[in-house]
Amino acid sequence: MTAPTPLTARPDDRPPDGPWYLPTGDELAVFEAAWAARLPVLLRGPTGCGKTRFVEHMAWRLHRAADRAQTPLDVPLVTVACHEDLSASDLVGRWLLSGDETVWRDGPLARAVRSGAMCYLDEVVEARRDTTVVIHSLTDHRRVLPIERTGELLDAHPDFMLVVSYNPGHAAVGKSLKASTRQRFVSLDFAYPSLEAETTIVAHETGLDPATALRLARVGERLRHLEGHGLDDGVGTRLLVHAGKLIARGVAPRLACDVAIARALTEDAAVRRAITDVCDVLMP
Ligand SMILES: Nc1ncnc2c1ncn2[C@@H]1O[C@H](COP(=O)(O)OP(=O)(O)O)[C@@H](O)[C@H]1O
Ligand SMILES: [Mg+2]
Repeated sequence: MTAPTPLTARPDDRPPDGPWYLPTGDELAVFEAAWAARLPVLLRGPTGCGKTRFVEHMAWRLHRAADRAQTPLDVPLVTVACHEDLSASDLVGRWLLSGDETVWRDGPLARAVRSGAMCYLDEVVEARRDTTVVIHSLTDHRRVLPIERTGELLDAHPDFMLVVSYNPGHAAVGKSLKASTRQRFVSLDFAYPSLEAETTIVAHETGLDPATALRLARVGERLRHLEGHGLDDGVGTRLLVHAGKLIARGVAPRLACDVAIARALTEDAAVRRAITDVCDVLMP
């Protein structure tokens, strides 16, 4: 969870051109238009395919219309990784004991709504059901956050924007988005990148030469054929990037693929062998 940063010029320790993101479709233009219209956005796709990087990139990229002529400003981004115990009050806030007093402490969503930040609820279906109430009131014409415990009806700052992500693979385990929630969002679908795009991503993220990056991208492509045949989790680009970072630091490709890809994907010895076999052939 990141606290909202004030809307100031980029701190010097950031890359001058922001978090790097390779577009794979119309997502930049759609997101910019959604931001301009203050429409909430839903990012749908398997794990490790660039959703979080995309939001970080967009938050960096977008700047207030009034400042268009100047250098891009960071749009403050508040990210919440949702999990099964996350409740509405974790998002909205709670009373805390401070000495003899109780003081109200805004949760991350309330901070974003108040200050005009972008709020990214990652894996939103993991959160408890009571969170849909607050999402609904923020994603229609009302744009309000009811803070039940203080009686406040918080009007969203004009620059507040809600972004959520959702992994449809989890629908199989009973976690899916209710239609009444889904219909409130502009939906952007994320899928695994093409071989060419994934090669570019792996090379950029790891510093590996293009030929080695291409081999890793081929590993990803081949392993995705195993999905549903013993492999339940998606083979995200993240795994290839991790293996590539190890290789770039001198770890033998075979070992790198085993520890960063095969073991990350499965506990099953036979499936793991099938994965390392693929790596052996493609990453000699
Ligand atoms: N289109 C992309 N552009 C840049 N990097 C990407 C892209 N897709 C995947 N990546 C890489 O994969 C990693 C995992 O992506 P991430 O955004 O964390 O996935 P998700 O949020 O979908 O689970 C990123 O840290 C980045 O290195
Ligand atoms: Mg993510």
